[in-house]
Amino acid sequence: MPDALKLGFGPFAVPPKGVFIVFCDDRLKFGAATAKALGPAARLVERAAKAERFTGKSGSALDLVLPEGLKAARLVVIGAGKTAALTPKDWLDLGGTAMGKLPASASEATIFADLPGGAMRPQAAAELAQGVRLRAYRFDRYKTKRKADEEPPKSRSVTVAVADVAGSRKADRPRAGVTEGVLLARDLVNEPANVLFPAEFARRAGGLRKLGVAVEVLNVAALQKLGMNALLGVGQGSAHDSRVVVMRWNGSKRGEPPVAFIGKGVCFDTGGVSIKPASGMEDMKGDMAGAACVTGLLHALAARKARVNAVGVVGLVENMPDGKAQRPGDIVKSMSGQTIEIINTDAEGRLVLGDVIWYAAQRFKPKFMVDLATLTGAIIVALGHEYAGMFANDDRLAERLTKAGAATGEQVWRMPLGKEYDKAIDSKFADMKNTGGSRWAGAITAAQFIKRFVDDKIPWAHLDIAGTGFDSRQNEANKSWGSGWGVRLLEKLVAEFYEG
Ligand code: BES
Ligand code: MN
Ligand code: ZN
Repeated sequence: MPDALKLGFGPFAVPPKGVFIVFCDDRLKFGAATAKALGPAARLVERAAKAERFTGKSGSALDLVLPEGLKAARLVVIGAGKTAALTPKDWLDLGGTAMGKLPASASEATIFADLPGGAMRPQAAAELAQGVRLRAYRFDRYKTKRKADEEPPKSRSVTVAVADVAGSRKADRPRAGVTEGVLLARDLVNEPANVLFPAEFARRAGGLRKLGVAVEVLNVAALQKLGMNALLGVGQGSAHDSRVVVMRWNGSKRGEPPVAFIGKGVCFDTGGVSIKPASGMEDMKGDMAGAACVTGLLHALAARKARVNAVGVVGLVENMPDGKAQRPGDIVKSMSGQTIEIINTDAEGRLVLGDVIWYAAQRFKPKFMVDLATLTGAIIVALGHEYAGMFANDDRLAERLTKAGAATGEQVWRMPLGKEYDKAIDSKFADMKNTGGSRWAGAITAAQFIKRFVDDKIPWAHLDIAGTGFDSRQNEANKSWGSGWGVRLLEKLVAEFYEG
C-alpha cells in the first residue's frame, strides 16, 4: 500500500496546527463555519487574493504560509467555482484538489467541508473524503531513492471537518470500501509484468477471500477440460501459464441469479508473432486493466457488504512470441464450439473474452453481463481518453451505464453494432476470423466478434477501456498511471440496479 493516510471526520474547529484547507466560491465567499473559523484572517485572504488575482474559480488555489491570526502553519483556500449545483463528481474532485494542495512534507491537515450554501451534507462529505483518498494514492514501491525534499512523511492524517460527524462517518463507510477497490485495481494495472503474471494476479485475487468472496482459480488443465482453446491459444507462447479466476460475492438471496462482470486480463501484450513496434510497448503491462477493474469491483462490493449477488470472471494470459506461440492462419475451436481463424495474433483480447464470456453465461445465467477490455487502439482514435466505448445488445442496460457514468465521471459513449460490421469477420476457413481485415471501424468489428459469444437473451454490454484504463485518464482524483477506471462506475450501476 502507498504511504499511510489516516482520514477521519471531526467537528468544525479552528485547527491548532498543520495545514488548514477551506473552500470559497467564485465571488470569494465562504460558508458560515469557515468564516467563523477564519475570523480576522478572512481579511488576509481578501488582500492576498487581490495580490494573486485569485478569483475562486473551480480548481484554483491560494496558498498562505504562516497566516496571521491562525495557528495553522499554512492556509490553503480552494476555489469551488459556482457552488449552487455541485454534483457528486464535483465533491470528489474538491477532495482530490484539496489533497493535491497538501505539500509532500505536511503530515497533518484539516479540510473544512463547508461551502457558501452551507456545510456539506454527509453524502457530499463522504464523496470529498473519497477524493482525498484517491488523490493520496501513489505507486512508488520500486523507488529506492528520493531527493531529500521529496521524502514523504511516514503517515499523513487528514481531518474532514463537518457539521454532522456521525452521519458523515456512516456515509463514508461504504465509500471507503469502494475506494479500496479502486486502489486495488490501480495497483494491479501499475505492477510490471515480470511481477504480475497470470498466477500472481490469481494469487492477489485470492486476497478477496478474507472479505468473504469465494475465489476459484482454474489452471491450464481445467481450462483444457472446459475447451477454452481460444484463450489457451493466446497464452501458449508464454513461459507463464494461463489462468481463469472466478470471484463470487453472494450478498443477496441464495440461488438468485447474479450480475456478471468479465475482464480481459492480458498481463502483457507483445502482440505475439504479429509483434508490436517497440515504441510504447511498455504500456502493454496495463493490458489487464479490464480484469483489474473486475477484481477491484468485487473487492468494493464485498467490502461494503452490498446486498447483491455478483460474479467476476477474468481471463489471465500473457501474449508472447515464441516457438510454441500461436501463428496467423491457425484455427482454434472455442469453448462455444465455434471455430476461429487467427489472422493477427495481436487481436488476442477478443479470443480471451470469447471463451470467458461464454463460460460465465453458461455457468451463472446472469441477469446481465458487462465485460471490460483494453481491446482496441481504434477506440482511442474515436473517443480519446475521456469516454470508454460502450457496445450493448440492450437499451436499458446501456441507459443505466450512461447514467452511472454521468454520476461518477467515468463516462461511456455508446457505439453501434450491426450485421454489416459482423460480415467483416466471416472467414474463408472457419466460422469467423479474429480481425475485420481493414483498419476501419476496428473497435466495432472487435465488439462484433465478442457478440458472437453472447446469448442475446442476456442483456450484455462491452466496454472498450483502451483509452481510459491507464495513462492519460488523470484528473483531480487520480494522478496515477493505472486509473482504476470502471470500479466506481460499475459499483454505481450495481447499486442502482438492486437498490434504486
Ligand atoms: N491491447 C491492445 C489494444 C490497446 C492498444 C490497448 C493501446 C491499450 C492501448 C489489443 O490487444 C490490440 O493489440 N489490438 C489491436 C487489434 C488489431 C490487431 C486488429 C489494435 O488495436 O491495433
Ligand atoms: Mn493485442
Ligand atoms: Zn491486448
